[in-house]
Amino acid sequence: MKKYFVIGNPIEHSLSPELHNYWLKSNNIEGSYSKKKLNEHDLKNFFLRIKNEEISGANITVPFKKAVIPFLDELSVEAESTQSVNTIYLNKNKIIGHNTDINGFELAIKDCGFDVTGKKILILGAGGVVSSIIYALNKMKALEITICNRTKSKAEDMKFLYNDLIVINWGEIYDFDMIINATSVGLNKEEKLNLDISKFKSSNFFYDIIYNPPETNFLKDARNLGKKIQNGKRMFIHQAAQAFKIWHGIQPDIDDKVNRIIDK
Ligand code: ATR
Repeated sequence: MKKYFVIGNPIEHSLSPELHNYWLKSNNIEGSYSKKKLNEHDLKNFFLRIKNEEISGANITVPFKKAVIPFLDELSVEAESTQSVNTIYLNKNKIIGHNTDINGFELAIKDCGFDVTGKKILILGAGGVVSSIIYALNKMKALEITICNRTKSKAEDMKFLYNDLIVINWGEIYDFDMIINATSVGLNKEEKLNLDISKFKSSNFFYDIIYNPPETNFLKDARNLGKKIQNGKRMFIHQAAQAFKIWHGIQPDIDDKVNRIIDK
């Protein structure tokens, strides 16, 4: 039986196993998908098991999206450009790293009917998923992408990948059309960003990468201000669907059951 994993640390919050196991079952594919909490020193052994075909594929989440790169034989163009890998598969005995977060984000934004073309976007955070979001926003022809991170040097580092990125200080306020929370603040429901979002008067769309819990304080505050909000659920589903397609050659259905799995 083929085995798939999502690896990360922490990993408890991940709903990937529920989703992939539902799709495996509904497509009559024999296989299992589980979550695995690893430490950095476990990665070598994990990738050996992939090479030996004990494990057929994996999703990679925080904090390993970049750290896995040295263990791979090849990167897709998207993974190479973003230096971020979320999907691993084996092809002719080579371990390939790909990035489905980019298309996941792009499809999610399209699902909610927001047109990024010509818009000014602010991203909060500079962690593992941010390079994928920037790549997708550029692909969707955003006018200007600004990033701000508590630790400014990490935001500055992003300029090595995207040299026309604008970096501002934490708490600086300018006019943006859309604000994206890509920090980990909100994964625990009570957590709150040290930022007064009511000051972003001209911003009408607030997006959070987090999907569990479904409404972070960032989104709740924006909703109370009458803003359009969206959580990371559709991005999560789309990135997973694309990983499934890579591994099994089938585009899985995004049906009501899928929505119920994420909303539970
Ligand atoms: P990693 O940084 O290992 O890739 P991540 O979960 O992808 O992990 O990123 C966490 C992001 O949330 C970072 O941008 C982090 O900011 P720092 O670089 O300053 O650590 C941000 N973050 C975490 N806690 C935060 C907080 N209390 N306030 C603001 N930003 C926070």
